[in-house]
Amino acid sequence: MRVLSGIQPSGKLHIGNFFGAMRQHLQLQAEHKCFYFIADYHALTSNPVPDDVAGLTLGVAMDYIALGLDIEKTIFWRQSDVPEVTELTWLLSCVTPMGLLQRCTSYKDKVAQGLSPNHGLFAYPVLQAADILIYRSDLVPVGADQKQHIEVTRDIAIRFNNVYGEIFTVPREHIIESVAIVPGIDGRKMSKSYGNTIEIFEPEASVRKKIMKVVTDSLPVEEPKDPDKCSVFALLKLVASSDELCEWENKYRAGGLGYGQAKKRLAELMIDYFKPYRQKRAELENNMDYVKEVLANGAERAKSVAGETLEKARQAVGLRR
Ligand code: ADP
Ligand code: TRP
Repeated sequence: MRVLSGIQPSGKLHIGNFFGAMRQHLQLQAEHKCFYFIADYHALTSNPVPDDVAGLTLGVAMDYIALGLDIEKTIFWRQSDVPEVTELTWLLSCVTPMGLLQRCTSYKDKVAQGLSPNHGLFAYPVLQAADILIYRSDLVPVGADQKQHIEVTRDIAIRFNNVYGEIFTVPREHIIESVAIVPGIDGRKMSKSYGNTIEIFEPEASVRKKIMKVVTDSLPVEEPKDPDKCSVFALLKLVASSDELCEWENKYRAGGLGYGQAKKRLAELMIDYFKPYRQKRAELENNMDYVKEVLANGAERAKSVAGETLEKARQAVGLRR
């Protein structure tokens, strides 16, 4: 089974990204041939500052490698190193009905959040379809927010195949039934765009400080508390053993628990969870040439698959005979 997924370099990766997506990406490597890439073309749709783009891409690359990406087995590259995908986007665009894109909620959501309503943002799902189809992917592990984009991809693949013959594998989504939504320090969904994140590799002192600031209700200590309504408990769920979690749950319900106590333990557990990877992350930071080499090597492997599929598609539509 060929697995493919992409992640945008739109900021530094946070623990919501890790528990919601990266952890599953890394686990899938044990059983499948995986293709993972950093979606820098997609990131341009939100008009980032040019000086930031390449650096954020390398940051995401270092995070993935430090956290256990298998650089031998998994193909890992920067999207824009394989520009073939943009040519396929054009071929797919010519069979994509406007209505299909007009129904996509992510465009409307992003414009409502204040992003410029540019054509790239509107056509974003077609580029994503090209990503998936050019590498002949079977399975696409994504968060629930990406479900519609995978449906669009399937729709485009089926249309193209109907008109031009069976060129593309029609992929399946693999919705990551993640640990639900990871809350940020303000209690909303943790997201780069809300400025409420805890980055995976930010300094330990800063992780501690942020965890102490996680918003909780103002019930007095002696009052019983509902763990299911508490962001601190939601974060504990990610890193505590089931026995320990059970103890915390009892303490919440019994009353007499101060949130400070739970936050201190949470900070300890969170720091311990990522500790084994910090050393590797720091080494990579001092060895950028190696990181660039991993991406270049991945791009070369990705390019050979992409080139084959693109050539078939060019022939199918009649550009080459
Ligand atoms: P952000 O909201 O920070 O910009 P992205 O939209 O780039 O994050 O998400 C990248 C991946 O991480 C997606 O697969 C998404 O489902 C997952 N993800 C992001 N934030 C969270 C969260 N708070 N909880 C769970 N998963 C998340
Ligand atoms: N749109 C995805 C996100 O924001 C990133 C992405 C781009 C992607 N191309 C992809 C995910 C192809 C899966 C497959 O999370």
